[in-house]
Amino acid sequence: MSDSTDQKRPSDPGPVTKAVVPAAGLGTRFLPATKATPKEMLPIVDKPAIQYVVEEAVAADLQDVLMITGRSKRSIEDHFDRAYELEEALEAKGDEERLRSVRESSDLAQVHYVRQGEPRGLGHAVLCAEAHVGDNPFAVLLGDDLIESADLLRRMIEVREKHGGNVVALMEVEPEQVSLYGCAGIEPTDEDDVVAVTDLVEKPSPEQAPSRWAIIGRYVCDPAVFPILRETPPGRGGEIQLTDALRELVRRKPEDGGPVYGVLFRGRRYDTGNKADYIRTVVDFACRRPDLAEELLPWLRDFVDRREAGRP
Ligand code: UTP
Repeated sequence: MSDSTDQKRPSDPGPVTKAVVPAAGLGTRFLPATKATPKEMLPIVDKPAIQYVVEEAVAADLQDVLMITGRSKRSIEDHFDRAYELEEALEAKGDEERLRSVRESSDLAQVHYVRQGEPRGLGHAVLCAEAHVGDNPFAVLLGDDLIESADLLRRMIEVREKHGGNVVALMEVEPEQVSLYGCAGIEPTDEDDVVAVTDLVEKPSPEQAPSRWAIIGRYVCDPAVFPILRETPPGRGGEIQLTDALRELVRRKPEDGGPVYGVLFRGRRYDTGNKADYIRTVVDFACRRPDLAEELLPWLRDFVDRREAGRP
């Protein structure tokens, strides 16, 4: 029997099967677009960002997806639900292709929802998943963070299943960018792409940063993180930070829910909650689509040439 106040809750050593997708943030960096539309629903070409995130979870064999939603997030629930009227209209027209695209999101995974009453930070959003997750290890995928493939998440799950504890995804950033992320102090392990995390600092100044390895929006957590989150006071920005709770697990043994490992990621990753990154994502994804690239690439080249030549 588990005691939710126990600081040393042993986790189920079994496989990771659940994904938690926090999508309850205010999205202030993207106002006014995010006044009534969640940033996770902003389209990347013709699919909302959060659908790519759920597709990544499913590709890593996580069929059980819990979304943490909040104010004005109804459209997320509608998107992953059936749309009978629309489906009937497309069926009547015989538009099979669009019908398939509409059904894709509702057939994708078993999606569950819990509301975070007040956006008190990522750590608080993750704590809202406790009842659903129970004593099992779980993955966290930020709903506005797009990662090129599911290989990273699959590798993180593999590391958890081999070593226990928690796993963060780390990406090397420029020194002037460390203050935008949680940063990790690291030590090598026997595996080239895996490090032992020795420290974690949320949004440090370049002088305080333990390294240039920044935490990006994928985590695999031991359920021992829940009692710690409950005790974690608001940190940076007055928010309850997941990084602060994970720091408490750095020095723990596997039987106590620790330690923390990092998987080094060298692929492409986009923070779609940031305007410039959002635009880069749309352009990148569109240029990789055969139905759009042919038309778009010559236009982009011409656009850049005209800009550089100072022509309108
Ligand atoms: P961000 O750090 O991007 O914060 O959250 P934000 O509040 O959504 O956006 P800005 O900074 O105001 O523009 C990272 C992820 O965590 C979720 C967000 O929805 C996003 O997917 N989040 C954040 C929550 O679910 N709840 C929170 O209280 C905070």
